[in-house]
Amino acid sequence: MSADALAHWERAGTLNLAALPPLAVYVHLPWCLRKCPYCDFNSHALRGELSERRYLDAVVADLEAALPLVWGRRIESVFVGGGTPTLFSPEGIDRLLGNLRARLPIAPGAEITLEANPGTFERERFRAFHDAGVTRLSVGVQSFDDEMLARIGRAHDAAQARAAVQEAREAFATFNVDLMYALPGQDLARLEADLAYALAFEPPHLSIYHLTVEPNTVFALHPPALPDEDTASAMLDRIVERTAAGGIERYEVSAFARPGHRCRHNLNYWEFGDYLGLGAGAHGKLSFAHRVLRQVRWREPAMYMERALAGAAVSSEHEVARRDLPFEFMMNALRLREGFDLQRVVQRTGLPPSAIEAVLERAVARGLLEREGSRMRPSARGFDFLSDLQQMFLPPTTAAPR
Ligand SMILES: C[S@@+](CC[C@H](N)C(=O)[O-])C[C@H]1O[C@@H](n2cnc3c(N)ncnc32)[C@H](O)[C@@H]1O
Ligand code: SF4
Repeated sequence: MSADALAHWERAGTLNLAALPPLAVYVHLPWCLRKCPYCDFNSHALRGELSERRYLDAVVADLEAALPLVWGRRIESVFVGGGTPTLFSPEGIDRLLGNLRARLPIAPGAEITLEANPGTFERERFRAFHDAGVTRLSVGVQSFDDEMLARIGRAHDAAQARAAVQEAREAFATFNVDLMYALPGQDLARLEADLAYALAFEPPHLSIYHLTVEPNTVFALHPPALPDEDTASAMLDRIVERTAAGGIERYEVSAFARPGHRCRHNLNYWEFGDYLGLGAGAHGKLSFAHRVLRQVRWREPAMYMERALAGAAVSSEHEVARRDLPFEFMMNALRLREGFDLQRVVQRTGLPPSAIEAVLERAVARGLLEREGSRMRPSARGFDFLSDLQQMFLPPTTAAPR
């Protein structure tokens, strides 16, 4: 990153951000034991030995090249995601976090999350990640039902899932369990049993995703028979009921937490905060006084390592067009049950309130948004028809009929 490139992003423009948003760091570790048939994330089945040292060197080179863009800014949270980060050794994660700390001011008490897979679980390993500085583990369980796990092609069984969650519970003061629902052959009774298993661990946080069939996955090519829409919707109702009864509140479309255990890193995304994305295929969003920059790193791990080590990890970057900012903000903020404060739109997009006022009024009139003072939140109907609500904020020429 040259001084010229920095001056380019800092030059005058039509947006006015009075202060820069909180900044987080995401690090992507792209390998898995094998590729799950539903997964379209940037994850690659590991062939041969893991290039742990070279990859971590590449991430440091990536960070060093990016430093001028975030100079002097404090890091509020770190998320090490994948892929399967627990394929990396605790020593590797320790080195990674040490390298971040040596180059960035990480806030005292910052949340540092690591994604873990039950398939890579060994006793003592989770504790070693904790000792390396990880404060929060996110365990990708998906289901506690052996038959469901086999149907979605997971590399682990239910016993390994239970052991991993138990170990996370013992080693970490806060942790998350990732589940999916509307799985092939799942009915309401099986979903209930899965949920009961999860809730028995009293998790501080649950992420529960509706299984979606994504393009370019094995499931897209050979679609499994999935529960119909009415069943999936009844499942979601049951999930919201049971989690609430267990003291776990739905605060975002797919995220549920006990008081004090919301994921600070993900909240920063939903509040349209900034994040530096390091690692293969990682996305980043960085604000300047007069513009918002989005970056993507080289996606393919070998290419990423080669380019990052040569000081050129970024494969593409662009300034978010002024007209696209309202939709980008709403794609995130409206996922939150509590919505957003109007002042935050101004702070995070640098746009004046007049830029969205007319659409907000239309959304209120359609019963999709509720206003309480300066706070706007999706109504129950708005939350059910979220993409309709979000699309109202598309720039006029591309917007769906309102
Ligand atoms: C990219 S994965 C990383 C975590 C870890 N590798 C794992 O799979 O356990 C993050 C989460 O996204 C969810 N996910 C991935 N593909 C999905 C899909 N097609 N539909 C719904 N959720 C999905 C899963 O719950 C998964 O735990
Ligand atoms: S383990 Fe997670 S990241 Fe890896 S392929 Fe499966 S769902 Fe994707």
